[in-house]
Amino acid sequence: MLIISHPDQIDLARSLSHHHGIPLAELEYRKFPDGETYLRLLTPVKDANIVIVCSLNHPDDKIMWLYLLCQTLRTEGVNSIHLIAPYLGYMRQDTQFHPGESVTSKYFAQLLSQLVDKMTTIDPHLHRYKSLSEIYTIPTTVLHAAPLVSLWISKHVKTPLLIGPDSESAQWASDLSSRLNVPFIILEKNRLGDHDVEVSIPDVHLYLDHTPILIDDIISTAHTMIETISHLKKTPLRPPICIGIHAVFSGNAFEELSQSGCSKIVTTNSITHPSNQIDISSLKFF
Ligand code: R5P
Repeated sequence: MLIISHPDQIDLARSLSHHHGIPLAELEYRKFPDGETYLRLLTPVKDANIVIVCSLNHPDDKIMWLYLLCQTLRTEGVNSIHLIAPYLGYMRQDTQFHPGESVTSKYFAQLLSQLVDKMTTIDPHLHRYKSLSEIYTIPTTVLHAAPLVSLWISKHVKTPLLIGPDSESAQWASDLSSRLNVPFIILEKNRLGDHDVEVSIPDVHLYLDHTPILIDDIISTAHTMIETISHLKKTPLRPPICIGIHAVFSGNAFEELSQSGCSKIVTTNSITHPSNQIDISSLKFF
């Protein structure tokens, strides 16, 4: 077995290599002046079982890297390709909201299913799809960050109140709540546009001595969290800790969330980011 990492994920790949005793293969990757990709395998891979570590945030950029790499690996005679995509992009457009819209989750899944033999990911955004097998034709394994997130909370927060900003986050908040035996509340979110989110005001009078923790799978524009915090500010609760499993953070989202009145932002290293405090490499990837 050999691990090949996307450059963005090299720290996680080293950690996986260390935890699971699998050597890292060397890959030269650079861009030509015109933006095209150059790849060269510097480690022999014939007959190897390859593990590619590549989170699929910024998927439009990474899919070409992945495509060219997989084709090269097949040409060099590898035995199999296992993609570890700790964050799986293109999961949120899971239906046609407007006539003529592309259900990109489906087409992205078809493309990945042609490139690799199996895939492992962490807490994919399963909302209308109940399972990845509805759109992926390769074997897929879903791992959960909850045991590691609950460990972090139990180490760092005395009396947590878990808050899910919308019905989709109920699955993570309720799972963590039963692991930690602490209360949780779920708010109601109404998304008006990419950058426009409305969140209902919670009834929190029972929890004034608790530390609120906002928990969500993805923090992208951070508007879901920012809007929730602005409502929590109208209550006597303390400033919340924000925990996101996947630190997507588009544009200035991290800076905006940092300045929105939360006490701390914590994420897993499924996507490399300065807010990473929860290491996922001990999960059962193999
Ligand atoms: C969506 O339903 C997810 O669970 C997250 O709430 C959402 O992706 C967060 O997005 P943003 O940070 O852009 O508000």
